[in-house]
Amino acid sequence: AQKIKIRAAEKARIDGKRVVIFGWAHRVRMQGKSMMFVTLRDGSGYLQCLLGKEMCKSSDTPRLTVESTVALYGTLVTVPEGKSAPGGHELIVDYWKIIHAAPSGLDAFETKLNKEAGPEVMYDQRHLVLRGETASSLMKLRSVFLQAFRQHYDEQHYVELTTPCLTQTECEGGSTLFKLDYYGEPAYLTQSSQLYLETAIPSMGDVFSVQMSFRAEASRTRRHLSEFTHIEAEMPFITYDELLERLEFLVCDVIEKALSSPARGMILELNPDLKVPQRPFRRMQYKDAIEWLRQADFRKDDGTLYEFGEDIPEKPERFMVDTLGEPIFLCRFPAAMKAFYMFRDEEDPTLTHSTDLLMPGVGEIIGGSMRIWDYDEIMAGYAREGIDPKFYYWYTDQRKYGSCPHGGYGLGFERFLAWALKRDHVREQQCGCWRSSGRES
Ligand code: 4AD
Ligand code: MG
Repeated sequence: AQKIKIRAAEKARIDGKRVVIFGWAHRVRMQGKSMMFVTLRDGSGYLQCLLGKEMCKSSDTPRLTVESTVALYGTLVTVPEGKSAPGGHELIVDYWKIIHAAPSGLDAFETKLNKEAGPEVMYDQRHLVLRGETASSLMKLRSVFLQAFRQHYDEQHYVELTTPCLTQTECEGGSTLFKLDYYGEPAYLTQSSQLYLETAIPSMGDVFSVQMSFRAEASRTRRHLSEFTHIEAEMPFITYDELLERLEFLVCDVIEKALSSPARGMILELNPDLKVPQRPFRRMQYKDAIEWLRQADFRKDDGTLYEFGEDIPEKPERFMVDTLGEPIFLCRFPAAMKAFYMFRDEEDPTLTHSTDLLMPGVGEIIGGSMRIWDYDEIMAGYAREGIDPKFYYWYTDQRKYGSCPHGGYGLGFERFLAWALKRDHVREQQCGCWRSSGRES
């Protein structure tokens, strides 16, 4: 028999050969004593397999439980009209063997694997939850979207860089730094690759990176992770407007690429409403957002209204973007609430050339800005944030040796996926397990 993957089953049927397929028993159903249906899963797809009377006589039959690994030999046939099977064909098994029998308790767990798993199951049993249909679709689509991002950057001639994860510098404020011991000296897990990307543009031009970023977040929400996948880019000689245009183009192009890929069906199964968003996106100044929230009488937990100068947290952000129902660029945040590196607005230097892209259902998925490119201004930025410039000499040097106007952004990939695939929780977009205090990685 020819060894094939389920994905190739269609082709193999045309060839009319006897095949063997290795995989996991995704579902097992006995029909009377003489017929057994096994939905086989091998990562490339699902296949219905029929074990007739002779096959059910095997002494192995009782051991054929959900999640057991098996080798199934047989012939592929098209299922008759009126019967449904994934891919439209099934395997008539003529010989089979168990490779490893899973304990039968998993049968009950199967429901949890394949239906919506609650947060507790998601944490502790992530390795088993991953075998479920939704969870595995999400992981496969993660791969599809990541490829779409890389394809976008490749077509636009960006260079991909892999930057250090162990750093001596902070990028997004000291309060969310994971500190560690680096041979007796303090070091941190990176919060962002931005600073490294900036120093690469004089020789590489437009650059991007896909790296894990780490944040010791005080907030435990549906969109905060301690470790997230950060897609970042940095571009020399662009204007603030061009930064926003590049961002719109990125988001729309990636959605378009994914929707025109073979994964289209899988995407639409999860989010039938996904469309390429309309360009240009709505631009809203930070000060107008505060005004909008006040007009809408949106109040903080203590009953007061938002004031200019205050951070707009998740709740009001979601309220605004969900009410308006379209992507929003929030622009020109006050410098006082933003990082040390953000370029100041020429007309009002208390504001920055910054932006957050908000998406319905999630809120902020991207943060970006133009960067300070003047030496004295960056020194003042360090001072304001109480940063010791000693560790930033390489970043500072860029403002000495051929500085240029430049800007960039960071996109939270799990948040992007939560938006595109209409999922509630960013945790669902990760694949690892973590057992500790109940905090997830
Ligand atoms: O807005 P942030 O903090 O911006 C930066 O880190 C910049 N240095 C990026 C840059 O300009 N190169 O983070 C960027 C994005 C956020 O919009 C959000 O989508 C995501 O990263 N993000 C998180 N995602 C999940 N969990 C967290 N704890 C996140 N923190 C930020
Ligand atoms: Mg941000």
